Amino acid sequence: MQRALTLHQTTVGKKLIMALSGLIIVGFAIGHFLGNLNLYRGAEAMDGYAEFLKGLPPLLWGTRLLLLFAFGAHIASAFSLWNRNRKARGSRYKVHKDLATDYAARTMYWSGPILLLFIVYHLLHFTILPAHPGEVYRNVVEGFQNPLIAGVYIAGNLALGFHIFHGIYSAFQTVGANHPRYNDYRRDLAIAICAVITIGNLSFPIAVLAGFITL
Ligand code: HEM
Repeated sequence: MQRALTLHQTTVGKKLIMALSGLIIVGFAIGHFLGNLNLYRGAEAMDGYAEFLKGLPPLLWGTRLLLLFAFGAHIASAFSLWNRNRKARGSRYKVHKDLATDYAARTMYWSGPILLLFIVYHLLHFTILPAHPGEVYRNVVEGFQNPLIAGVYIAGNLALGFHIFHGIYSAFQTVGANHPRYNDYRRDLAIAICAVITIGNLSFPIAVLAGFITL
């Protein structure tokens, strides 16, 4: 008897899970960036904002659980698609049909692992083992005053830029928004979202290194 495939077992299902979980993560990245803009307003604003979030446990823990779930689903589907592609590549039908898709996929497979390493480092640095617990502004500014740490953040956020640009672009394709008439808009929207998050996040370590944000 033929077994029915559940959605997550099919390639299109896995891509849909990648797209939806990616959307949740990008939504968080936008909110996180907007919150971090408090760094430009000084220690009181930044620490006050962090305190405010910690005073809302349902929001804090709801977001953490949702993110954990989204990251788990995103990484599991990525592995699974990668494995499937690897096996398919072994077949004798070696036809490169779509160079653009191939290039985007390759970008995802180097930027994804770099991003994962960066996020683990980032969580250890600011959330799990902060130098000065409760002093978020001081932790960030003191951290970024070290060019090596600032460099890690710049590299991590550049990887994020590449990853979300191709991610948003291919997510539109997965959900079917792939029509010659709309492809330019699709590209422009992917560039706009990606530029706001990437340039915005890069501005923090650069502003500290330039002495624009100080202790
Ligand atoms: C230069 C860019 C960034 C800065 C300055 C920054 C800053 C911070 C700070 C200060 C915290 C700790 C907040 C606190 O303890 O109250 C934090 C937590 C966090 N950041 Fe970032 N971040 C940046 C980029 C990113 C990126 C690109 C991601 C991933 C998409 C990310 C994901 C997280 C997560 C998941 C947490 C933990 C939130 C929690 O407490 O549950 N951050 N970030």
